[in-house]
Amino acid sequence: MTLRSRFNKAMDRLVRDYTVSLPCDRRLYKYDIAGSIAHARMLGRQGIISTEEAEQIIEALLSIQQEIENGEFDFNDDLEDIHMNIEACLTERLGETGAKLHTARSRNDQVALDLRLFTKDAIYNTIAAIKGLQHALLELAEANKSVVMPGYTHLQKAQPILFAHHCLAYFEMFQRDLERFGEALERTDVLPLGSGALAGVPYPIDREFVARELNFSRISGNSLDAVSDRDFVLDYLSAASLAMMHISRLAEEIVLWTTAEFDFVELDDSFATGSSIMPQKKNPDVAELARARTGRTYGHLMAALTMLKALPLSYNRDLQEDKEGLFDTVDTLLATLEVFAAMLSGLRIKEDNTRRAAEENYTLATDVADYLVGKGIPFRQAHSIVGSLVRYAIGIGQSLRNIELSDYRRFSPVFDNDVKAITLETSVETRSSHGGTSPQQVERALAAARQKLDEKQG
Ligand code: ARG
Repeated sequence: MTLRSRFNKAMDRLVRDYTVSLPCDRRLYKYDIAGSIAHARMLGRQGIISTEEAEQIIEALLSIQQEIENGEFDFNDDLEDIHMNIEACLTERLGETGAKLHTARSRNDQVALDLRLFTKDAIYNTIAAIKGLQHALLELAEANKSVVMPGYTHLQKAQPILFAHHCLAYFEMFQRDLERFGEALERTDVLPLGSGALAGVPYPIDREFVARELNFSRISGNSLDAVSDRDFVLDYLSAASLAMMHISRLAEEIVLWTTAEFDFVELDDSFATGSSIMPQKKNPDVAELARARTGRTYGHLMAALTMLKALPLSYNRDLQEDKEGLFDTVDTLLATLEVFAAMLSGLRIKEDNTRRAAEENYTLATDVADYLVGKGIPFRQAHSIVGSLVRYAIGIGQSLRNIELSDYRRFSPVFDNDVKAITLETSVETRSSHGGTSPQQVERALAAARQKLDEKQG
């Protein structure tokens, strides 16, 4: 089955090697077989082939699947791809009956089908893995509910926050990723089979039946679009790029927090790496590699966008290139989500250090300004008064807490003893606007997050 009866010559070896897709697409074997089984069953039901022939084909396909899974299948690069390998084997076994499977079908709608089936599974697995990471974030937040740390802007200490609040920020990002994958699923969940090479097929096929057999919610509405559409691949790659981007931000914080300079967290020894020369090193390589692999995922997205750009309708061989980047992205994302969830579960928060860091460097200055607002001073004026106070404090090398009330009063007469009651705790507690870092708000957010995690997705 080399499809070369119209040619006078065999395919040049260079062409064969350049065009073969089997090493990559053999990974689709079970989707190819599932699709062929549904197709054969439909052909039998519709009287396009006999039901006995359909049954023989289905049985043979199942045994081919078994052989592939047992490592006994003889793959042949001369047959270009997994689809031809399976069909050729079927025909070798069943003769004319096997040769009937490809009735009312083209490899163009077949490859589109197989990749959609693969992508649907990938999305289900990705959603589960994102939930796994969200679960780990929630556990970490709940186990460290009272930990206070400095919040940053411009990577400069800004205001104290609860560590749990920081964890929940990532929970939100991953929740949006879940939504994106849910939407990607809807657009992937469309059956292209029955579109033929490009124009439809001249047989009385039942596409709705095939859709039901293969668990698709809808069937495609235009045969040209169905064989040339790879938007669902882009949907996966772009959702994956955003998810990897979120992971890389978390990765960066873990890298920072494990430095001696920050010293906020410690990785479990089993999740840290050493150095070949410096015996003392404890390195966060998992976080660094995740940070780097984000770029690989962006690259695959860009490659797929470029592959599709300016491609005329309908199928073009360019589309064969849709798989490698997708497979690598699925593998990268799933592995990264899994290792991150496990790494977070073993993360130890150095509460004393985060607290000390939250106290230092005048992080309560905004609270002092808010205090003045409470005494009737307009905020802009309060901001300016406290700015001068901080400048003075830096000059004498003192914290705001250690400055005498009489000195405070040189900046504003409304300062009173109660300014000394401003602490990390009051700072955090007063930030009780919806979505803020106060313990009550964080408690509410934790409960909401827990509930979202328990919701059934898709
Ligand atoms: N190996 C090809 C692919 O994966 C099969 C598509 C065949 N269609 C064609 N007209 N050559 O895209």
